Amino acid sequence: MKYLTTFIKKSAMRTIRGFTIFVAIFILFIPALSVGAEPLKPALGDDDEILTPKPNPAPRINGPLVYGCRPDHPFLYRIPCQGERPIHFSVKGLPPELKLDPTAGIITGKTPAKGEYSMLIHANNSKGKDQRQFKLVAGDQLALTPPMGWNHWYAHYDRITDKMMREAAIAMISSGMADVGYHYVNIDDCWMNAPKNNDPLRVGPLRDEQGNIIPNKHFPNMKGLTDYIHSTGLKAGIYTSPGPLTCGGFTGAWQHEEQDARQFASWGFDFLKYDWCSYGDLAGKNVDLEGFQKPYRKMGKILKSLDRDMVFNLCQYGMGDVWKWGGEVDAHSWRTGGDLGFELDRIFDVALKNAQIGQFNKPGEWNDPDYIQIGWIGNANKMGIPELTPMPANMQYAYMSLWSLLAAPLIYSGDMSKLDPFTLNILCNPEVIEVNQDPLGKCGEVMNRSKECFLMVKKLADGSIAVGLFNRGKNKADISMTWSELKISDGHQVRDLWREKDLGVYKEKFSALVPSQGVVMIKISK
Ligand code: GLA
Repeated sequence: MKYLTTFIKKSAMRTIRGFTIFVAIFILFIPALSVGAEPLKPALGDDDEILTPKPNPAPRINGPLVYGCRPDHPFLYRIPCQGERPIHFSVKGLPPELKLDPTAGIITGKTPAKGEYSMLIHANNSKGKDQRQFKLVAGDQLALTPPMGWNHWYAHYDRITDKMMREAAIAMISSGMADVGYHYVNIDDCWMNAPKNNDPLRVGPLRDEQGNIIPNKHFPNMKGLTDYIHSTGLKAGIYTSPGPLTCGGFTGAWQHEEQDARQFASWGFDFLKYDWCSYGDLAGKNVDLEGFQKPYRKMGKILKSLDRDMVFNLCQYGMGDVWKWGGEVDAHSWRTGGDLGFELDRIFDVALKNAQIGQFNKPGEWNDPDYIQIGWIGNANKMGIPELTPMPANMQYAYMSLWSLLAAPLIYSGDMSKLDPFTLNILCNPEVIEVNQDPLGKCGEVMNRSKECFLMVKKLADGSIAVGLFNRGKNKADISMTWSELKISDGHQVRDLWREKDLGVYKEKFSALVPSQGVVMIKISK
């Protein structure tokens, strides 16, 4: 009920408005932004503005600057690149073990021996060209930048099918999401059989005579599914729990951990989300630290012994301060709290809580505040069918900015078959994403401005700083900062990241009028 008015307004208006309004807003607001050394006023309006400029027809290569993988394992990387197709790709310094498809921009092969391989990716089309550094780090570490992708949970819950997963992969490509770096296409719970379920197609034998887990009838061919996802250049993720049953009441990995992990690898999965549900009954009431760690340590070891790279995502809601030991059990990310779907009205609080444990974030080890739930999502309380989010537009900008500044995994969890232009504008701004994917892997630090306003300040590898100016209040608010507070010298260039627009050189301070529940996100560079 809370955002009912906004919701009705949005649903009805979004399709009618569109391009005309987009142009009008640009004409009205952008001149007010290009004010050089003066404070930025006004910033965002309160309406559903599309701020991210449409990608240029000329190529723009995106994606991480560093990429971790393990020697001699299968390698797959689709170069994220915006621009009109056909694009011709080439890579200088590509190790001989790897092969590039120059039209698809997909690199495949075997990861070379331990070491660092610096490459230069080139892309050109009839409209222009681009190049970008890419360092492959072959060694022990994966997920050197926060994982990006899609997970089915908040859209499809226990309705997920093989067909929907394949369609999601195609939508990730056709929507342009893959061109800014999203690449994991992840199944959550409910792909296995359950002892009982309303859907008879999800009930059946849990395992075969050899103990191999049996997918339910909605997933007739797991290897076929990952082959399909991989053929698009994307990667595939899967879910299970260390308990006998998953949170949804489906078969878990208990007493079959190694067998299941090997099965996932032979099916071709690249990512495992490992829950806790029903393991709690085995662990008992007074679980000590070792008790919390035990199932994850076990699975971490198993995954490391596999002959393919599998990113390991813990989902135990932050118990036992998981951020302090997640890396030690070979995990790459860990949920820091309960399901965000139940507290979408608290994204600021959740983000601030994550910032408090930001020092535990580093390349290969990420705090995970849960998925990006915008666009068409199914209400978590009802496991509902997807509806357009009632979240105000400004809060959606804030949500994506917070997750980017936190260096949180960017996993979208809305309906991929209903990606509207506004949602894609939030999900696919390459400059905002670049802040998230920065190789330093720093989590932003919070500087309070007032009871309702705060800055989130993230140091970037190139020496520049990304800052989100956030306003949780009911009214617009003027938020300011001085360069001396940020411990930087005088005279810095400021760029509005959502608008991808230089605002000018600011001598010693910057301020902006920030909309209610919204953000202005900037990059400050020398
Ligand atoms: C838990 C997790 C969710 C989802 C469901 C599946 O609630 O936190 O992210 O995986 O289980 O049942």
